[in-house]
Amino acid sequence: MAAKAARRRPAHKPVLVLNGPNLNMLGKRQPQIYGRETLADIEAACRAEAQRLGMEVAFAQSNHEGVLVDLIQAAREKNSAIVINAGAYTHTSVALLDALNAAELPVVEVHLSNIYKRESFRHHSYISPAAVGVIAGLGGQGYLLALQALSRLLAR
Ligand code: DQA
Repeated sequence: MAAKAARRRPAHKPVLVLNGPNLNMLGKRQPQIYGRETLADIEAACRAEAQRLGMEVAFAQSNHEGVLVDLIQAAREKNSAIVINAGAYTHTSVALLDALNAAELPVVEVHLSNIYKRESFRHHSYISPAAVGVIAGLGGQGYLLALQALSRLLAR
């Protein structure tokens, strides 16, 4: 599948940075866990990092599982790779796993918090099998590290 994905991803297509439910509440939502950075702050940092890396990013957030599936389906044609923080759907959604597998794009899974330090129901991710890598516990920096990893991967 890696070879097939490589043939389908021209470097000029933007990387989709996709955020799931409740991530629009960042900054207000449990700052002791998720920090004070807002999603707009994370988007601005991603855009600055992407510019430094010579990549384009498309940034999206939805609280709705079906909308996230639609965005991942569209990414197959519109994007070169996906950075995804699926929020709570990480721990519940076979539909997101199926969509990510069908996209045949490199995927990096990101979590602001260290999900392995938290409740046991957060220890399992349905979407990790579709990801080349997972970054958890480094706050907003995780998104930037994901973009750096994808920049190297897409340059291969
Ligand atoms: C999260 C972790 C999930 O368990 C949680 O449901 C979220 C955010 C994170 O970024 O740490 O909404 O994905």
